[in-house]
Amino acid sequence: MDYAFELTQSLSNYMKAQIASRLWHAELPNQIRENFSAETMFECNLAVEVILQAFENQEYTTWDAEEYLTHLSARCTGQNFTVEARLKDKFSPVHSALQYQTLPGTVVDSAGNILVWYLPGILSETRVESVWNSLRDIETMIHKAVPLATSWRVNDSYFRHEPGWVQPGNINFSPAWFQQGHETSNPLEVSLDLCNPIGQEFIRDTTTSSALLGAILSIIHPEQYRAGMKFLQRLAAEPELVHKAEILKQILTIWSSPFGVMTVISNRDTPYHRDNGSCYSWYDFLMPLGKGEHGRLELPGLGLRYKYDPMTLVAITGRLLQHGAVCDGDRAVIVYYMRRTVFEELGVQEAGWSTTYDLFANLPATNAFDFEI
Ligand SMILES: [Fe+2]
Repeated sequence: MDYAFELTQSLSNYMKAQIASRLWHAELPNQIRENFSAETMFECNLAVEVILQAFENQEYTTWDAEEYLTHLSARCTGQNFTVEARLKDKFSPVHSALQYQTLPGTVVDSAGNILVWYLPGILSETRVESVWNSLRDIETMIHKAVPLATSWRVNDSYFRHEPGWVQPGNINFSPAWFQQGHETSNPLEVSLDLCNPIGQEFIRDTTTSSALLGAILSIIHPEQYRAGMKFLQRLAAEPELVHKAEILKQILTIWSSPFGVMTVISNRDTPYHRDNGSCYSWYDFLMPLGKGEHGRLELPGLGLRYKYDPMTLVAITGRLLQHGAVCDGDRAVIVYYMRRTVFEELGVQEAGWSTTYDLFANLPATNAFDFEI
């Protein structure tokens, strides 16, 4: 069986070789050049370019994330004004007033842990358009917002709609997760939206996009990437660990993302919050899609406001940092993330921080092609 995550590993290998070539003048193996289309190589080269720019442009907190997280409760929602004011008082933002950023950059804590990667322009227009068009094709399966829902995530007061816009709501894709709120009683299962043939078509259409994002993760957080690939390898080796194993086997031929969950959110504004299902040191990937150029992603605890529009990718430690977003026009975002309980269930170890000190340390300085996952 061909697993889709093999493509992700190939793109990762290529990007690593590109970075080694840029940083240490290592020679690119010819074998790699022949394996990809010119377009895929262009996209990988673009990703490497923007990642290196972001790495060069670092801003620093005066505090250490490990110390910061000891002041967060296990289920800190990011929505309690008093708690956030206290945190801001103790842990000063990088900028006292929200500073608008448009260039690639990173935010690094006092211990060298990279808390944010802001990567505008990292995705090609063609790539983003194709994902947006694929989303329009599956509009009928979007779960609509719910009036008076207690959770802001689905409450319709946060959603926007105009004639001709994509249906506001969300879709959840995961090859293995616990049905929400049932971590202790239910088995792992393929998410319902991923059992839907229309949903599977979307995942098939976006296999290369998700592989590209997975390869980007392998560069900016190698440890988290390895955890994600172990998760996929475990599913491939023992699909019967998951309810609906027969469907899972098929899914693994199209699921290329090391992230365990892909959530599509359409036409919703996002109030300040934290996401508690992940680990503090893991990144959530935010990939905005659609029309308009006035999106804003804000991280008030850092004093940063990013331009947040299509062709951008943002990797944030979303359990650690309070964040929120506002957009104009017909928009959606794909959020890629990992769930801690799922990885625990499958025996995949928690990944540590991505740090400035050893980020590129394991890249080959020679002509090597096959890297260990
Ligand atoms: Fe979030």
